[in-house]
Formats: sequence, C-alpha cells, structure tokens
Amino acid sequence: MKAVVATGYGPPEQYTVADVPAPRPGPGQIQVRVAAASINPADVRLPSGDFRDVVPLEFPHVPGNDFAGTVSEAGPGVTAYRVGDEIFGQAVPRALRAMAGATRPSLSTGSLAEYAVFEADTPFLAHRPPRLALEHAAALPTTGLTARALMTTARVRPGETVLVIGATGGVGTAVIPLLAAAKARIIATATEADAGVLRRLGAHETIGYPEAEYPSGVDVALNLTLPSDHLTGVATAVRPGGRLLTITYPVPRQEWIGRDDVALHFVLDMDGALGGMREVAELAATGGLPATIGRRYTLDEGPRACVDFARLHTTGKLVVTM
Ligand SMILES: NC(=O)c1ccc[n+]([C@@H]2O[C@H](COP(=O)([O-])OP(=O)(O)OC[C@H]3O[C@@H](n4cnc5c(N)ncnc54)[C@H](OP(=O)(O)O)[C@@H]3O)[C@@H](O)[C@H]2O)c1
Repeated sequence: MKAVVATGYGPPEQYTVADVPAPRPGPGQIQVRVAAASINPADVRLPSGDFRDVVPLEFPHVPGNDFAGTVSEAGPGVTAYRVGDEIFGQAVPRALRAMAGATRPSLSTGSLAEYAVFEADTPFLAHRPPRLALEHAAALPTTGLTARALMTTARVRPGETVLVIGATGGVGTAVIPLLAAAKARIIATATEADAGVLRRLGAHETIGYPEAEYPSGVDVALNLTLPSDHLTGVATAVRPGGRLLTITYPVPRQEWIGRDDVALHFVLDMDGALGGMREVAELAATGGLPATIGRRYTLDEGPRACVDFARLHTTGKLVVTM
C-alpha cells in the first residue's frame, strides 16, 4: 500500500510517499481502508524527535491520527464493527501506548495511508453518520473531541464573555460554533484574512495575536496555542473568579499564571471520560459541529500537507484524501 512515511527523526520536508506492507489486524483490531485523514500538530511533532526520549518511534513511521474510512477486515473477537462499516475517529501511534489512556487506548498504525489498523474497542472510534461527508468526518475527530471536552469543562453560561486564543486552528474553528450555541459572547484571535471565517462561525469580535490586544475582565479564556508555561498574559485578561482553560503542554501549574483568583484547567481526555466519537458523531450529524477545511491534498501530496501544516499559516484543518 501507499503511505506517507518518515524514515528517521526530522522535519516533514523529509517525509516521502512509499510502498509499505498493508498492516493486518490482530485480536480486537480492525483494518480500515482509509478514505480521508487530517493533519494534527502531533503528526509532525513526534517524528521531529523533540520527544524521542519519552516516546521513541520505530521507522518507517506512518503519521496520522484522524481518519474516516471503511472497515476492510476484522480481527478475532471484534464485535463493535463489521467489514463494510463506515467509521471515523482518532487514534494515536502505538509508540504512545503508555500515555494513551489506561482503559481502552485508541492506537493505530497511522492514518496517512491507504490502510491502517485500529483497536476496535475504544470510545475514540464510531460509525460515521451518513449525512457527515467523508472529508468533514476526517477533519473532526481530534478537534471535535477536544472542543466538546473544553465545553464540558468550561460550563459556559449564556451571556458570558469567552476569549479564544488560537481560534483560527483546528480546535479553535471547532469550538467557536459550540460557544456560539451556548450563547457566549466570543472574542477570538485571528489574522485579518481569517476574521470573516471566524465571524461566520459565530465569533462576535476578532483581535490580533499580540497580548496588548487582549481584552480584560473576560469570564473564560481558552488557550489553544500558547505553551502552558506562557499564560500570564492570558490570565490577566480573566476577571477575578473566572476560568482559564488550556490544552497545551507543559501541564500548567497555578503559580505559573500569577493569579490565585482564576480557576486553571488543563483539558486532556485520553479515556473518553468527557465523551467520545459517538457524541462527536451525534453533534456533527445535527449540524452542530461544522468542519472548517482550509486545504485539501491527495495522498501523493501528503508530505506537502505536513510541510504546509508546519510552515504556513493555515485556517481550520488540512485534509488528505486517499
Ligand atoms: N489537550 C488536548 O486534548 C489537545 C487536543 C488537540 C490539540 N492539542 C494541542 O492544542 C494546540 C492547538 O491544536 P490545533 O490542532 O488547533 O493546532 P493548529 O491547527 O495549528 O492551530 C493553532 C492556531 O493558533 C494560531 N496561533 C499561533 N500563535 C498564535 C498566537 N500567538 N496568538 C493567537 N493565535 C496563534 C495559529 O495560527 P498561525 O498559523 O498564524 O501561527 C493556528 O491557527 C496544539 O498545541 C495541539 O498539540 C491539545
């Protein structure tokens, strides 16, 4: 089969499209013929080697967490899916097993490929609703799961003001419609070119990236991009008694934000405790979770998609169709 591969640690410029053996499912696993996949930061960060001491990779490594496709083979003991089922979801590389949740970890051989093998018994795979287009389904797993987890944790009340830092990316473009549905007043960071996209998704106001443009007195701030040891500026924007949620590493400590009157939450749900793909599917099927796709690529252009993701300003998700 054809797949995007990294043959050693390095930047995405070194990825190629190669012929590699199609992975076969073992007990409790399914093989999926991947129709579309989308790019996430981890797809380029893990092969970069920055985390090689914690998560050593085996090469050739096939990147890709998010996918939509058709079950093409089921291993012994699989009951949740049958050959021919249309599914979508999120699964991390097997090298991340130790960090991928204690109960039913979602692991795969990498979705930027014609075929990938997944663990069947996990909350992070689900049937794709017929009304959800393949490309949209591939764009939504990580971002939809994370946006829902943010909403569950933030408990935004109607009329509250929410500042979203990093709103133009995958998670940002997924969470803004959910904030709008919760009747929040949304202030979102954006480039000038992206302001219209964010307003159409539900943002009321857009501001530039510099901290000097942050408002003050917001009820809730969502940090979707700055490293979590660089949040003092974001914390300054939050009213006393407000909430600051962040999804980036390193896992933040209260003393780092210089405030003890702001509730700090690190949102990362590796077990599906805050909801899994079934909930994302239900929301997407009713139109509550639109996908914003910035660019589209073929599998042969997969390495270029990873380079663009790492090097260019992109809006929403980059989707690769096989
Ligand atoms: N905890 C979790 O469960 C979880 C889940 C998913 C993702 N994550 C993490 O969350 C982060 C975002 O993920 P993503 O998929 O949304 O990434 P993404 O698609 O790359 O989005 C990041 C966005 O932030 C923008 N940005 C960069 N610097 C900014 C600044 N100083 N101010 C305002 N905006 C800025 C980027 O725009 P430019 O292109 O202009 O730089 C981009 O639009 C990543 O670090 C990812 O690893 C965590």
